[in-house]
Amino acid sequence: MKGLILAAGKGTRMYPMTLPVCKPLIPVYDKPLIYYPLAVLMQAGIRDILVITPPDEMAPFIRLLGDGSDFGVRITYRVQKVQRGIADAFLVGRSFIGDDDVCLILGDNIFYGQTLAQSLREAKDDPAEARIFGYYVDDPRPFGVVEFDDNGNAISIEEKPAQPRSNYIVPGLYFFRNSVVDIAAQIEPSARGELEITAVNAAYLHSGDLHVVKLGQDFTWLDAGHAESLLHAASTIREIQKTTGRLVACLEEIGWRMGYLTRSDLLRRAQELKNTAYGKYLEQVTGEGAENGNKLG
Ligand code: G1P
Repeated sequence: MKGLILAAGKGTRMYPMTLPVCKPLIPVYDKPLIYYPLAVLMQAGIRDILVITPPDEMAPFIRLLGDGSDFGVRITYRVQKVQRGIADAFLVGRSFIGDDDVCLILGDNIFYGQTLAQSLREAKDDPAEARIFGYYVDDPRPFGVVEFDDNGNAISIEEKPAQPRSNYIVPGLYFFRNSVVDIAAQIEPSARGELEITAVNAAYLHSGDLHVVKLGQDFTWLDAGHAESLLHAASTIREIQKTTGRLVACLEEIGWRMGYLTRSDLLRRAQELKNTAYGKYLEQVTGEGAENGNKLG
């Protein structure tokens, strides 16, 4: 399975903050925002990842993430020339995806949960053509909203409804079989001129191929889409890290625990970053004995 990170949003809703640096690169507490979605793909066991960037902004992404080898993954980059919507990621990434299945994550979505790695593995192995999630929020209006019947089956899905039929929103993490490339190529732009991911999900719903799994309240989902939610995301990450004593989305640690990196790879990174809190954490992780195992979830 290939991974896509759609990091092409300039973040115009966050100007002037995002004028010099686009949204996926701004910090959420102690790491750039894009670390969090990249961590999710890595924990899903996806190692071949395409980062889709805004025009003229690829260089800082490459400076930050390189070819992914520091984390034990392969990262390639492509530009989304015109912001044509989320589903356009499958068209921009078409040749990268090839005949594979694909997981798309939005560059401003943060997921945290003790059982996240397990849920991701299940999603990846789900035989459904399309597997997405539902997450309960108080105000679902700014999001994709999914409605369930009494048996927990999805029965409707709408983008930013004025009168939502449920409180379950669809977070920006989508697992699709290869059929998604053709479906994305067939959908029509919405009233706001975008190829909506919700239109893709609706197509799967209508053909009976959409599997929506509710994320429990033990999961934290954060959308860092505007100043207020960005601040909330940062303080939530800080709180989780303080409480657990573990970094969220430490890519080298994940790479090591997933078996993508060796202990000496990790040590080298810890050494390179030794003057930072991040590097000191890596050193601590490296020193953790075999009794802690080196596997996630
Ligand atoms: C997008 C999707 C929406 C989804 C949300 C998650 O909204 O269109 O369906 O629920 O991401 O972050 P946007 O960020 O484009 O407003």
